[in-house]
Amino acid sequence: MCDNTEISGKKYQNILETVGNTPLVKINKLGPAGVNIYAKIEAFNPMGSVKDRLALAVIEHAEQSGALQPGQTVIEATSGNTGIGLAMVCAQKGYPLVVTMAESFSVERRKMMRFLGAKVVLTPAAEKGSGMLKKAVELAEAHDWFLCRQFENEANADMHSRTTAPEILACFADEQLDYWVSGYGTGGTLKGVARVLREKSPQTKVVVCEPESAALLSSHVPQEAGESASTYKSHGSFSPHPMQGWTPDFISQLTQDAVANALVDEVLTIPGPEALRLSRELAQREGIFVGISAGATMAGALKIAESAAPGSNIVCMLPDTGERYLSTPLFADIGAEMDSEEQLLAASTPSAQLGA
Ligand SMILES: Cc1ncc(COP(=O)(O)O)c(C=O)c1O
Repeated sequence: MCDNTEISGKKYQNILETVGNTPLVKINKLGPAGVNIYAKIEAFNPMGSVKDRLALAVIEHAEQSGALQPGQTVIEATSGNTGIGLAMVCAQKGYPLVVTMAESFSVERRKMMRFLGAKVVLTPAAEKGSGMLKKAVELAEAHDWFLCRQFENEANADMHSRTTAPEILACFADEQLDYWVSGYGTGGTLKGVARVLREKSPQTKVVVCEPESAALLSSHVPQEAGESASTYKSHGSFSPHPMQGWTPDFISQLTQDAVANALVDEVLTIPGPEALRLSRELAQREGIFVGISAGATMAGALKIAESAAPGSNIVCMLPDTGERYLSTPLFADIGAEMDSEEQLLAASTPSAQLGA
């Protein structure tokens, strides 16, 4: 069922039941005429990002396997969205949560996790994603905590195979899906969705986007393993980029698997300013309020649309909400005070003028 023609109400037994089943929304103004672009808006998840899916999956898988014991502390290294999703899941299920996060990620993310009851251990920006991961591994070993290992945990990719991919395919029961466009962070979305598309919709081309300044896959330089399990050496092609949540300074195991299994048809590189521009365009021309990596994925989808055959259907993943970026360059031009145009409007009628 992919229509929205009837009113439907649904009661949920707890917040975790609301994860997934996000809407696929047509993009009406940004793309060229004659090509259909649809956005899978993951901001509709309860904590506003695609990572709610993996958070729920990893914890429930660990409960079932016995790797996570009642009341045991959960720990993970995260650029924020996974931590926010985990904080929700752990709050609902009653597990203490500790998150390690590089100081460079947005302040909103830290505050949200703490608001949900988690402890956030900040790591130096200079040590990048691999540094915060190393810290999480160390803490897990030192305190016997459950480490989520989102970058290689198969429960992450499995959740996308079980939910995200079928949700997309349900909308293309009667027509062909020509392209699916995504970025990668852990690679869970990529591996989990792409392998189902290969099997159930082999004509769909899988397009992966990465930052121009961190073109790790495009470099074809293989990823070196770190000193211990669940750690990675920093990749030489990485330099910092504004697409938070995309491409850490290493190619995760799940992303490596997707490439090794030939699940990727094309890799596009996206410049940072283009990602910011498209996030603003999505907001101001389509009314879709999403983050920077979503703008970047839309940039990739538009690039594909330029040369796609007329009538092609393109689906792109928009991973999170724009509200998570109020303190980042995405909002650099958005002031809190009235600009000159607003001041003129205020002065154009007599009542309720500031400072009058
Ligand atoms: C904002 C944002 N975009 C994209 C991604 C990538 O998703 P995945 O980890 O499934 O590769 C993430 C995850 O880190 C994210 O937080």
